[in-house]
Amino acid sequence: MFEIENHPVKDAIKQRAHINDAQYKEMYQQSIEQPDTFWGNMASEFLEWFTPWEKVSEFDFNKGEATWFKGGKLNVSHNCIDRHLATKANDTAIIWEGDNPDEDLTITYQQLHDKVCRLANVLKARGVKKGDRVCIYMPMIPEAAYAMLACARIGAVHSVVFGGFSPESLKDRILDSDCQAVITADEGLRGGKAVPLKVNTDTALASCPNVHTVVVVKRTGGEIAWNDSRDIWYHEQTDAASNQCPAEPMDAEDPLFILYTSGSTGKPKGVLHTTGGYLLQSAMTHKYIFDYHPGDVYWCTADVGWITGHSYIVYGPLCNAAITLMFEGVPTYPDASRCWQVIDKHQVNVFYTAPTAIRALMAQGDDYVTRTDRSSLKILGTVGEPINPEAWEWYYHVVGETRCPIMDTWWQTETGAVMITPLPGATNLKPGSATRPFFGVQPALVDPEGQILEGATEGNLVITASWPSQIRSVYGDHERCIQTYYSTYPGYYFTGDGARRDEDGYYWITGRVDDVLNVSGHRMGTAEIESALVLHDAVAEAAVVGFPHDIKGQGIYAYITPMHDVEPSPELEKELREFVTKEIGAIAKPDFIQWAVGLPKTRSGKIMRRILRKIASDEIDSLGDTSTLADPSVVDNLIDNRAKR
Ligand code: WT7
Repeated sequence: MFEIENHPVKDAIKQRAHINDAQYKEMYQQSIEQPDTFWGNMASEFLEWFTPWEKVSEFDFNKGEATWFKGGKLNVSHNCIDRHLATKANDTAIIWEGDNPDEDLTITYQQLHDKVCRLANVLKARGVKKGDRVCIYMPMIPEAAYAMLACARIGAVHSVVFGGFSPESLKDRILDSDCQAVITADEGLRGGKAVPLKVNTDTALASCPNVHTVVVVKRTGGEIAWNDSRDIWYHEQTDAASNQCPAEPMDAEDPLFILYTSGSTGKPKGVLHTTGGYLLQSAMTHKYIFDYHPGDVYWCTADVGWITGHSYIVYGPLCNAAITLMFEGVPTYPDASRCWQVIDKHQVNVFYTAPTAIRALMAQGDDYVTRTDRSSLKILGTVGEPINPEAWEWYYHVVGETRCPIMDTWWQTETGAVMITPLPGATNLKPGSATRPFFGVQPALVDPEGQILEGATEGNLVITASWPSQIRSVYGDHERCIQTYYSTYPGYYFTGDGARRDEDGYYWITGRVDDVLNVSGHRMGTAEIESALVLHDAVAEAAVVGFPHDIKGQGIYAYITPMHDVEPSPELEKELREFVTKEIGAIAKPDFIQWAVGLPKTRSGKIMRRILRKIASDEIDSLGDTSTLADPSVVDNLIDNRAKR
């Protein structure tokens, strides 16, 4: 094991970097003292506008409102493609690496332009127009990026649904935002296995009468059903379409996309992002955090189904005319050397992944890493959950050979782009800390009453002023947006995370303080999994909590009270786990199920989750006060019947 220590900025990194520490401090200062001047300058530098904005920013957190660059007109697809063509038409935009190591592709900016225009024209021909919602349910193939950019080009609002979600989850999301077209593939391919995307789509659409068009990419050629009045082949239609399609001028505040994410209550929320501010902050963070220089090969391993894929595979990098690598497969296929082989094959300079992947690969031993070269690597990044310092040091020493600084980036689906992060040439690193706020971001720690805490301290993490890429609303339910993010601490945006700030002003995110789980970097509400479980006939009541998991960060532990006439059995356990997979997707499948004759409830009937979390974590010596329970004896029973691991 490596010693856990601080890592000052190295000279080689400092010399190349866009921003050093003095510049960071000066720019940060300006960004919060004169935000409109700062962001106005950045918006001119990073983006091309058809028409200038009238006002840089305006916000009222009590109403959950924020607008950036109002009145300004631009188009995201134009910014990510067309404006690069004059000088970079033949430069690489996307390197695609297939699930199968023998398959790859290079797409230039000119080719990207043609593909996106053709698909945009197909959508238009099917009647899709500005403001309409289009669902994208795709594997990690270039067509997923074309689909997003084609929507952006004509002003349609995309809603990407992760390909691992079930037909049920897909249906809920299509209905919630009334998507009328779906772009999918016959099958996906991950780790050598086929994912039945079209079959899932057909199942979901049985309950979505408003969907008039399904565009199907032929990825595997697998057997699928066909609905002549609704389904069209991507290749047939785009081959026949024109490769020219004007980019629709959009207001900076017109919606760009909806992305569903889980909260502590109810169904997933459709987080709404708009055009100008979102694109600006994704592009700017991409350039500065990964110290991106022209020609660098940049690889973010996320799936486009998550916000990281939106901001850091597609929009941020392409807006900067970068080379973005898109990977169809998984880090362990054909074996645990895959990531490092891909890095050597494509001479990757920047590698951005999740702590759960780092821990999983670390557990396989150093040999898979050290047998590869990796000398092209310059910068490493992590995102999605707190990284434990041991994994950080392993990533730093073994993967990066102490040459590459690690950017631990804290942000959320709702923040749209990175908020707290080091910058390679500016920030001395402390393993496990996301370090300091990005330009324009004003984090604060508050106590339970909402009082701002000063100095080195610990509390709940809020953001006190608007930032360009922030959530604008929850689709179709602005009240829920206010309720979720702005009502806990009036006047501030509440992140749902707890954090510590040290004597150097560095932030250390400690994790969610609400009923949201983070399993392998995937966000899930305990309430969502409980709702799925109680749909099963054998279940009377369910309570789901997280517990510490070595690789996944958190695992899922479900307490289930069976119906009175149901006999618990290992078979039923298995059935329930499969049931959750069917209802939500494999990422929500409980690791453990414990049968519970009763759950610990207060006299008013509220489940005391604190106790359930302790038991699931095997911390039965520190259960705390149980005297307010209606029936304290249920606790002994729960302890005696803990799930075996
Ligand atoms: C939650 C947001 C943002 C892209 C991926 C996740 C946790 C995210 C970090 C980090 C500690 C982190 C937080 C946050 N999180 N990055 N660097 N250190 N925690 O997006 O699914 O919206 O989840 O992920 O708990 O609230 P998301």
